[in-house]
Amino acid sequence: MKIAILPGDGIGPEIIAQAAKVLEALRREGLPLELEYAPIGGAGYDASGDPLPDATLKLAQQSDAVLLGAVGGYQYDALPRLLRPEQGLLRIRKGLNLFANLRPAMLYPELANASPLRPEVVSGLDIMILRELTGDIYFGQPRGIRTLDNGERQGFDTMVYSESEISRVAHVGFQIAIKRAGENRMGKVCSVDKANVLDTSMLWREIVTAVAKEYPTVELSHMYVDNAAMQLVRAPKQFDVILTGNIFGDILSDEASMLTGSIGMLPSASLDANNKGLYEPCHGSAPDIAGKNIANPLATILSLAMMMRYTFAHVNIAQRIESAVRKALQQGLRTADIAEAGMEKISTDAMGDAVVATLLN
Ligand code: IPM
Ligand code: MG
Repeated sequence: MKIAILPGDGIGPEIIAQAAKVLEALRREGLPLELEYAPIGGAGYDASGDPLPDATLKLAQQSDAVLLGAVGGYQYDALPRLLRPEQGLLRIRKGLNLFANLRPAMLYPELANASPLRPEVVSGLDIMILRELTGDIYFGQPRGIRTLDNGERQGFDTMVYSESEISRVAHVGFQIAIKRAGENRMGKVCSVDKANVLDTSMLWREIVTAVAKEYPTVELSHMYVDNAAMQLVRAPKQFDVILTGNIFGDILSDEASMLTGSIGMLPSASLDANNKGLYEPCHGSAPDIAGKNIANPLATILSLAMMMRYTFAHVNIAQRIESAVRKALQQGLRTADIAEAGMEKISTDAMGDAVVATLLN
């Protein structure tokens, strides 16, 4: 079990250090873990002038899974686009062919009051956003800023999806829905597009509909992205799996994260066709709180749980990590982002230690 650990920038190193404590604890128990660290993002740029150094990509390719903190920082904001930290992230996703991005949004009962929505709207919320991650307008060519004949500059990007890109992520969506279905509950996939305006989306809808025929036990619906954005705050529990493209998924997953009260709680997995994966918290590098030992490490620790489940198929370890997190919350332990008024706030370090302690007993 070789894991590449890429702490990145901002709060990345602090939260990764907590996840590393969990990994060390599992290794002491006998799990054959091999951990190797490498820089990415701004840290990659600082180390070798490249947000995704060759050695980092190589390590990631040779590993079974990648654990990533976050990338980005104010000091890199003025760099040309291709040197910016985000490029490290986009290139490693593309370089490892991680086309299926799973972003679960679930509300822990202990944190019900952290959601800005009324408890009856969000209690029991458990949805999965499946975002296509290696196509769409993020990677489409041509793109650029050109000068028109009249001397005016024009920016342009290309939204593209090929049939094979759509169908492979659609299959993942239906398979996830089947796994999530209960004895008395059918799995549901809601495919989100903008087929009333975009040709890319018309093809998306056609292909998803065709793939659905292979999964008769899953209920498929379609929704336009503007409506989906509205429905997510109006009645989020109507959703089970949301299947969508790269840019719509980027936006909707941030929106969904807030339903749960804090983006600091949400893990993610980005998988290739063989369940090799990159695991990272949904939140970013939060440069404003970096180095203060106050960031919430739980999204990163929960990303480890996803790694154990999806890449290593160690479902019992995944469940142990998840229940250790749950117990820490039950004990009233809160970092600043999830603390209610009057509750004591604990540090990043203390939260990591608490999770390890509950994991081991
Ligand atoms: C995300 C982020 C990235 C994205 C950025 C940092 C490139 O917003 O993972 O959602 O747009 O994919
Ligand atoms: Mg985003």
